Amino acid sequence: MYSLIKPFLFCLPPELSHHLTLQTLQAVHRCGLLPTKHYRNPVKALGLTFANPVGLAAGLDKQGQYGQALEKLGFGFIESGTVVPRPQSGNAKPRLFRLKSCRALINRFGFNSVGVDVFIEHIRRYRVHGIHGINVGKNAQTPNEKAVDDYLFCIKQVYPYADYISVNLSSPNTPGLRLLQHGDALADMLTQLKAAQHRLADQHKKWVPLVVKVAPDLTVEAIEMMSEIFLRHKVEGVIATNTSLSREGVAEHPLAQQTGGLSGYPIHEQSTATLRRFKAALGEHVVLIASGGIDSAEIASEKLAAGATLIQLYTGLIYHGPKLIKAVCEI
Ligand SMILES: Cc1cc2nc3c(=O)[nH]c(=O)nc-3n(C[C@H](O)[C@H](O)[C@H](O)COP(=O)(O)O)c2cc1C
Repeated sequence: MYSLIKPFLFCLPPELSHHLTLQTLQAVHRCGLLPTKHYRNPVKALGLTFANPVGLAAGLDKQGQYGQALEKLGFGFIESGTVVPRPQSGNAKPRLFRLKSCRALINRFGFNSVGVDVFIEHIRRYRVHGIHGINVGKNAQTPNEKAVDDYLFCIKQVYPYADYISVNLSSPNTPGLRLLQHGDALADMLTQLKAAQHRLADQHKKWVPLVVKVAPDLTVEAIEMMSEIFLRHKVEGVIATNTSLSREGVAEHPLAQQTGGLSGYPIHEQSTATLRRFKAALGEHVVLIASGGIDSAEIASEKLAAGATLIQLYTGLIYHGPKLIKAVCEI
């Protein structure tokens, strides 16, 4: 089915086809016409049991509206967001580019968000039945010195509804955000977020694991220093990785110089190398979730071999459709 509609969707501007696809999926779901796929390959991680290890990466269901419809495609978990405290429109359009011959995208959305209050109305209305991760960030206007307040605010609001919370410190489209991945900024942030997690667990009588989403553009030294901080603060999971600033593998493409994060097939090696280095530094103490360039069962196998327990798809889904979920579940 997807291969039939893809040529039409790929004729439209990328952001428009993105909205059209999600709205159509939602309409079919609400009419009761969307069949539910079940791929059983259970995995235990983060104190949770996933029906299968293949999840939707953050950014497709940014406003928490489409998780219920998307999970019917067969995902073992859904990650919604990134959500930020106050509504913001993100960067000017166009901000999503299709590098079709490279099976890649460049995006510079910049956390367009309805804000956490409306996001929560959405996730309450369209409740995900399986495992639901919620990805949190900071408003563009919030200076880095106050960033922790934005993360604390979002975590407090989404805690009752989340099965895990993912702390996004790695979007390349919010100026300065990635600086929060390092040194004292990271350690101070985690001290406060972990304290909040304990308070909220007491309050809500439920434990929601915290995972940190990292960039692929990190040096070996940075990965080692970050890992030491993750272990000290008992971070439960790491998502490796977000989109890349590199243009390796797409340099010849006319859209390569668009500002933003590169995703899809060309980043899989860099992203897997980052995952492997985190695995070496973190050992068995931290769950690794692979994201970055997974567009075949083979690449997903490489991620598992590099130390991932769970897999997340985004750009591969745009290029291959839901059959990729099945293919990865069957490895
Ligand atoms: C259009 C687009 C929007 C994204 N938005 C977010 C986001 O809001 N938060 C986030 O943590 N990651 C976001 N990502 C990153 C993806 O979740 C994923 O980590 C990244 O694209 C690498 O995986 P892929 O190569 O399979 O796409 C976005 C990616 C794309 C392509």
